[in-house]
Amino acid sequence: MADITLISGSTLGGAEYVAEHLAEKLEDAGFSTETLHGPLLEDLSLSGIWLIISSTHGAGDIPDNLVPFYDDLQAQTPDLSQVRFGAVGIGSREYDTFCGAIEKIETEMKGAGAKQLGETLKINILDHDIPEDPAEAWLGSWINLLK
Ligand SMILES: Cc1cc2nc3c(=O)[nH]c(=O)nc-3n(C[C@H](O)[C@H](O)[C@H](O)COP(=O)(O)O)c2cc1C
Repeated sequence: MADITLISGSTLGGAEYVAEHLAEKLEDAGFSTETLHGPLLEDLSLSGIWLIISSTHGAGDIPDNLVPFYDDLQAQTPDLSQVRFGAVGIGSREYDTFCGAIEKIETEMKGAGAKQLGETLKINILDHDIPEDPAEAWLGSWINLLK
């Protein structure tokens, strides 16, 4: 099992690129990683460290490829007490529902008993043409929480 499982939710691909970039940086720091774009809950081992990266679509909605995962989290209420997770949201402040998707996912994860490591990073694409940059800066502190 990889040290860290990265889970991305994306409609247009931006969050996937951020996940792949963070996976590369985690590997550089000596962690093994597995990156899953829009996995099902059943694809995941219900223990270990997850790093969830999701954009927001619609009006605060979960990206289509992560809807099955989110629906399963709600419907199955799995025991995630052995999971620790980090969360990165990507969105635009143009919307009232800024980074609504990662907020919803965070709520479900905590409700299922998972422990969050650090604060959720919310990247406003209006401030950052390259969302990988703030994500990489955040990852530096997040890695310290894993030690
Ligand atoms: C139709 C549409 C709806 C969106 N709705 C929201 C929203 O409700 N909240 C938010 O923070 N960002 C919203 N966004 C901004 C996207 O989250 C942002 O463009 C993001 O970079 C897309 O990432 P992706 O390429 O991974 O899908 C929306 C974008 C589009 C095109």
